[in-house]
Amino acid sequence: MSDSQPTQDREPILQVRNLVKHFPLTQGIVFKKQVGAVKAVDGISFDLFRGETLGIVGESGCGKSTVARLLMNLEQATSGEVFYKGEDITRLSGRALKAVRRNIQMVFQDPYTSLNPRMTVGDIIGEPFDIHPEVAPKGERRRRVQDLLDVVGLNPEYINRYPHQFSGGQRQRIGIARGLALNPEIIICDEPVSALDVSVQAQVINLMEKLQDEFGLSYIFIAHDLSIVRHISDRVGVMYLGRMAEIGSDEAIYEHPTHPYTQALLSAVPVPDPEAREHRERILLSGDVPSPANPPSGCRFRTRCWKAEARCAQETPLLAIPKVFAGQDTPAAHESACHFAAEVAAA
Ligand SMILES: Nc1ncnc2c1ncn2[C@@H]1O[C@H](COP(=O)(O)OP(=O)(O)OP(=O)(O)O)[C@@H](O)[C@H]1O
Ligand code: SF4
Ligand SMILES: [Mg+2]
Repeated sequence: MSDSQPTQDREPILQVRNLVKHFPLTQGIVFKKQVGAVKAVDGISFDLFRGETLGIVGESGCGKSTVARLLMNLEQATSGEVFYKGEDITRLSGRALKAVRRNIQMVFQDPYTSLNPRMTVGDIIGEPFDIHPEVAPKGERRRRVQDLLDVVGLNPEYINRYPHQFSGGQRQRIGIARGLALNPEIIICDEPVSALDVSVQAQVINLMEKLQDEFGLSYIFIAHDLSIVRHISDRVGVMYLGRMAEIGSDEAIYEHPTHPYTQALLSAVPVPDPEAREHRERILLSGDVPSPANPPSGCRFRTRCWKAEARCAQETPLLAIPKVFAGQDTPAAHESACHFAAEVAAA
């Protein structure tokens, strides 16, 4: 984030409310009958503040990419709202949708498959101008694309090259340049560095931080790797099976987690310091992630939770600040969806 203003004093640029995406499960070839639904995203709410980076972490299949696609309006929400500057964008179409899309762009995970191998880098980066010619009229495009190459640290003379002539890190820079072409306010990054070597990951992350400061961008940064998310995020949301388990500042989530799932994830992160490693207790998660087509009743995490009690099967815990911490200026006072968040924090 470009300055140290606390998020509560900031203006939310995106407000997600009870967002749901169910993919129907059908049977039959000619007469298709719905027999259930994959509850990929099942009631998620959070805010994204102007100029911040919100990290989203969670195991494979928990719904991170589906959230990204819903925010981009690439997927129609089953229910719920996404307010961009106060306007619900989930039901927009035509010109209104096009105008919003200009301001919310995406950077994808795999720089090898997300760039068309038959297009030059100039055409790839300049493609968004075909849809929004008002941003760069025909005569100005070449110069604009060269500026964008320069901004992401690539030689502007590479404009006529093809994707295969670049390394993985360079390709992701091309993806970022394309994401920046329309001067967006928000960039949703779905595992943007997961396919890259560790040394290259740091360079791309540093570039993204520099661009955030330069252009006042707000990022949603999706990743598996908790250490990368911590490095870049101001706040972090932890997802489990279509829901948000816990959300708070990076300090709150990493130093004072109040959800057993977050604690388990963090206990599995490698610690370089041997002494700290010795004093650390590893929490092993039992069992597999249940199917999102048939999630457990009550708390979705209960089948793998080391703290589960009978109440957890009956009552769904709401994402909220634990009552005992309400109004307190402590890192434990952040939203968590666990009946026993206060006890977990103390532990
Ligand atoms: N178009 C679709 N039709 C049916 N099910 C889908 C569809 N897209 C996603 N799903 C299912 O929704 C769930 C969430 O998928 P999603 O891709 O959002 O997870 P993810 O957290 O991004 O996982 P990963 O970390 O592996 O990228 C998964 O069970 C997935 O199989
Ligand atoms: S509500 Fe119960 S099952 Fe869910 S995380 Fe908390 S203790 Fe575990
Ligand atoms: Mg994904």
